Amino acid sequence: PRDLRQLAQQHGIKIGSAVDIAALRAEADYHKTLNREFSHVTAENAMKWESVEPERGVFTWADADALVDSARRNRQQVRGHTLVWHNQLPAWLTAGVADGSIDAGELRSILRDHITTQVRRYKGKIRAWDVVNEVVQDDGTMRPSIWLTHLGPGYIADAFRWAHRADPRAKLYINDYNLEWNAPKIETTLALVKGLQAQGVPIHGAGFQGHLGIQYDYPGDWANVMRRFADLGLEVAVTELDVRMELPVTAEKLAEQAGYYSRALTDCLSVRACRELTVWGFTDRHSWVPGWFPGQGSACLFDENLAPKPAYQALLAVRSPR
Ligand code: G3I
Repeated sequence: PRDLRQLAQQHGIKIGSAVDIAALRAEADYHKTLNREFSHVTAENAMKWESVEPERGVFTWADADALVDSARRNRQQVRGHTLVWHNQLPAWLTAGVADGSIDAGELRSILRDHITTQVRRYKGKIRAWDVVNEVVQDDGTMRPSIWLTHLGPGYIADAFRWAHRADPRAKLYINDYNLEWNAPKIETTLALVKGLQAQGVPIHGAGFQGHLGIQYDYPGDWANVMRRFADLGLEVAVTELDVRMELPVTAEKLAEQAGYYSRALTDCLSVRACRELTVWGFTDRHSWVPGWFPGQGSACLFDENLAPKPAYQALLAVRSPR
C-alpha cells in the first residue's frame, strides 16, 4: 500500500485521526497529510460540550461544522466525540449544578436537549457517536460524575435512547481508556453493556481509546477483550490510539513504538467486528501528550515536520491476520 488510505481499504476497515481544527485551517501541510492518509476523522475538541455551547443557549458550531464539511469533501467518515463526559463541560453547567441553581430535573432535560440538538444537527453525517465517554473508573466502579450523582445510573440508558431517536442510523458507542487491559474496568463495562441490551437500549459499539506508552507492556490480551465485546453483538473500534515515550527520542524507542502501533492494528484486524482504528492526532506537532505527561512525547505516526516515523512504515507493512 502507498498510504494509510490504501492500507485501510485493503483491510476493509477505516483508519482515522483526531483533528485539531485550528491546525486544519491554518496549516496547509497538516491539511494535506490528513486528507491523503485518513478515511475517518474525529474532532479532538470541537464537538465537546464546552466547545459547542460555551454560554447557555449560545451555540458555536463553526469548528464542528468545518470538520464535518471537510470530511465530506475528502470522502472521510466521522466519529462524533463526545456527548456525555465529565470533562470539558461548560462552566455555566458545572457552576449551576454546584450552586444548586440547576436541579436534577432541569439537569436531565439539559442533557436530553444537548444530545438531541447535537445529534440532529449532524444526522446522516456521523458514522458513529461516542455517546458516553469514560463512565467506568479503573477500579471498576461507576464514575461519580455530575451525571451519576444527580441523575442516577439510568442516565446512560437515557443518553443512548435520546441519541438513537435523533439519528437512528448512527452507531452508538461506549468509549473508554485502559479498557484494553484493566480487568475491573473490562468486567464492569461488559456487565453494563449486557444490562443495557437486556433493557433494549440501542448500543452498537465499544471504543478502546488506546493511549499506550512504550514504558508499559503492550496490552497483550487486547484482541481477546475486543472479542468479548464483539461476542455481545457489538462492533468495536480503536478510537484514540497513540504511543508515548519518555524523551529524548532514540532510534531504539521509535522501533519499539512501531511495534506497538503494528500490534494494535493487527489486533483490530484479527477481530472481525473491529471496523475502525483512529489515532489521537497524527503529528507530534499537535499532540496532547507533552502537555499532560511532562517529559514524554513523540506519540504520533508523523514527526513535527510531518515526516513519517518508523511506526508509519510498520503500519503499512501489517498483513491481514484474518
Ligand atoms: O480552550 C482553551 C483555549 O482558549 C486556550 O487558549 C488554551 C491554552 O492552553 O487552552 C484551551 O483549552 C484546552 C483544550 O484542550 C482545547 O485545546 C485545554 O487547556 C486542554 O486541557 C484541552 O485538552 C484536551 C483534553 O482532552 C481535555 O480533556 C486535549 O486537547 C484532548 O486531546 C483530550 O482528549 C481526550 C479525549 O477527549 C478523551 N480521551 C482522552 C483524551 C486525552 O486526554
